Order: sequence, then C-alpha cells, then structure tokens
Amino acid sequence: MKFDVLTLFPEMITSALEGSIIGRAQKEGIIEINAVDIRDFSKDRQRHVDDYPYGGGAGMVIKPQPVYDAFKSLEVKENTKVLYMTPQGRPFCQRLAEEFSKEEEIVILCGHYEGIDERVIEEIVTDEVSMGDFVLTGGEIAAMAVIDAVSRLKPGVLGKEESYKEESFSDGLLEYPQYTRPPVFMDKEVPPVLLSGDHGKVDIWRHREALKRTYEKRPDLFEKYVLNTDDRIVMEQYLKNKH
Ligand code: ADE
Repeated sequence: MKFDVLTLFPEMITSALEGSIIGRAQKEGIIEINAVDIRDFSKDRQRHVDDYPYGGGAGMVIKPQPVYDAFKSLEVKENTKVLYMTPQGRPFCQRLAEEFSKEEEIVILCGHYEGIDERVIEEIVTDEVSMGDFVLTGGEIAAMAVIDAVSRLKPGVLGKEESYKEESFSDGLLEYPQYTRPPVFMDKEVPPVLLSGDHGKVDIWRHREALKRTYEKRPDLFEKYVLNTDDRIVMEQYLKNKH
C-alpha cells in the first residue's frame, strides 16, 4: 500500500516513520511512504506557497496552485482517496482505519498556517479527517497517526507477537489488563487465574475485565456493546459489589 503525503515538511513524515514497525514494513516493501514537498511546486523564485487571506485576518493561507500541481504530479488512479487532515473532518477511529486499509493508494494533504485555499480542497479532497477536537500546528502529526493505524492492519506489517486480533476496539471493547513477571510487584499480585495455565478460564477472565474496564473508562463504547446473558450477569455482580 502506498501513502502519498503532500506537505510543507516532508522530512517530518519520513524521519518519524523510518523506525520501528512502520520502518520495517517500508524496508520489506509492504508499505511505501512518498512525502511530496508542496514547495517544490511553487512558481515563484522564493519558493513561496502562501499568501494573505482575502477579507483580512491573521495568518497566511496556502495557495491553491502549488497544492494542485503537487497532487497532479502523483498521477494517481481516478478513485484514489485524498484525505485532508483538519479539525473540521470526520473523527478518525479504528473503523475508518480499517476502511482506509482496503485501499491500494491513499493521498494525504497536510495543511499549515491558517489553512489551504478552499477551492483546491473542493477540487481534490475526497475525505476530511480529524484527530480530535484540538488544533495542531499542522496536519503532519495527524497524517502520521493515520499512516501508522492503517499500515498496522495490512497483512505482514505486524509480527505474530504484535497481533491486533484482541486489542482495544477490535470487538467494541477496550483491551483487558496485561501483566508480566515478576508475580509480585510493590505488594501487588498478578491475578492468580493468569498463572493457572487454564486457557479457557483466562479467556473468560479477560473478557470480563474488558467489560468492566470499558464500563468504567469508556461508558460511550459500553453503551453500544451488545451484552449476552453471561455479560449481563457479570456486570450486575460487578455493580452490586461496587456499591
Ligand atoms: N490539523 C490541525 N489540527 C488537526 C486535527 N485536530 N486533526 C487533523 N488535522 C489537524
């Protein structure tokens, strides 16, 4: 899968994603990250890409022409998704990551300053995507989060030991707590069932912990989760003991 990132700071993208799992996936050719410098498509001698906003106001706006030319230089297929990272977009989530991971190639446009001329956004962007209700200095960090979350869903990117089958959100619940050696740390014991060697019991315990955790930490997710009979009994018991 290929990601083309249109940015004023290509080295931010390439340097941050060259290490660890995503770096390995690039070396293995499972994913390709092509950071394109919008400034290379400036038509002026000083390589300017921004200008004052019409109507006045603080800050500068990225001109439409260099963005459009940078995009055209990619020569992507007609239906390629073009994401624009902006706080005005759809909130990014695991479901969107899964949707994007089905694509062969994705273009990601990163804004800076006061934004990008609206006309080029209308012309090339298919999806506006937000990292959350806060404002970053630019879209690069948001783009990296999208690339990371999407890439790890591609077959071969995660090793067996880094499996994503049982992680938070994959089944609508947060992940159960994890423990490793030593068996006692600061007087706290590892839950005995995890040392029992009984995988059936471990699975049941983990599912119950995931339920309780989701209830406590993400009541919004818990509300959407469909409880089975056993889940309902577990939660009734949990709430009775809590009060
Ligand atoms: N650019 C600036 N802030 C952003 C956000 N919250 N999400 C995505 N892109 C952004």
